[in-house]
Amino acid sequence: MSSKDRVVLAYSGGLDTSVAIGWIGEQTGREVVAVAVDVGQGGEDLEVIRQRALDCGAVEAYVADARDEFASEYCMPALKANALYEGKYPLVSALSRPVIVKHLVKAAREFGATTVAHGCTGKGNDQVRFELSIKALAPELKVIAPWRMTELWPFRSREDELAYCRQKGIDLPFDASHSYSHDRNLWHSSHEGLELEDPAQEPMLEELLLLGVSPKQAPDAETLLRIGFEKGVPVSLNGKEMRLSELLRRLNELGGNNGIGIYDLVEDRVVGMKARGIYEIPAVTILLKAQSCLEALVLDRETLETKRTLSEKFASLLYEGKWFTPLREALQAFFSSTQELLTGEVRLSLYK
Ligand code: ARG
Repeated sequence: MSSKDRVVLAYSGGLDTSVAIGWIGEQTGREVVAVAVDVGQGGEDLEVIRQRALDCGAVEAYVADARDEFASEYCMPALKANALYEGKYPLVSALSRPVIVKHLVKAAREFGATTVAHGCTGKGNDQVRFELSIKALAPELKVIAPWRMTELWPFRSREDELAYCRQKGIDLPFDASHSYSHDRNLWHSSHEGLELEDPAQEPMLEELLLLGVSPKQAPDAETLLRIGFEKGVPVSLNGKEMRLSELLRRLNELGGNNGIGIYDLVEDRVVGMKARGIYEIPAVTILLKAQSCLEALVLDRETLETKRTLSEKFASLLYEGKWFTPLREALQAFFSSTQELLTGEVRLSLYK
């Protein structure tokens, strides 16, 4: 078989995508290359994940470290634009999909694959974001989405998936209990699904939170901090210069410890459903606040007004997966130019 018939799979290391390696191989008769992209999701060591892909039958397994690129080329433009989908949701997952796809396409070319496979279901936004990005960057690539192939995909539960692995002698460190749909990167952690789908249910915050504590558990004390911006880019914390990915990590910690940046919201998905999610977005919440303090001092009234109008458009474009479009580039250039004027240090007080 020619190596050109390979399939590149977006691999997370979880049970679903681990099972998909073997299943895609069997269904298509093709070799599977597993690609994991590090956007700061944390959790298991990526070398462990890489080895798991090989144990599950991938011919190649490859990990791309995209943390700095994700922070500066994807998160920063959204911050500069104050991008909030429907005026409230700071996009988070939507920002990581284009950079993940960029690396999938690169791997497809490197390993001679003609098809990309992803683990999104037919209910969410991520399938749209993956596929629009793939089509924009590499229209020649075909796409397989096993979770949408409901007629063919034989697994109805995690127990089915585990049984399939056991039968193939693959031992995975997962159990059969249902879990939330979870996503995490440098920008956030989020949970959807299970009882959260009923907006009448109070979220069990203490169980869900991964980046910090709830306001109820936060200390009754103030944390003071200083954030330095250079031409619209946050470059320092309390006078210490640091890389953006590191700054995000630190601010997530400080904000998380103070119960800052927890969102319980219902959003309108691209596919026409409403979805309720619990988001932890401490660093972004702090940075948006700091940025708006500087903007209020520096930008003129008409620029601020135009920014607000275009920001809404920018946020919906990103939410809908239209990252690789001329309109996104043009709007991004506008926001970059307004933010060029923002240099200075902002003092903030964090209190729950
Ligand atoms: N609903 C959010 C979005 O479409 C998050 C999706 C991924 N998060 C998750 N917990 N599965 O951007």
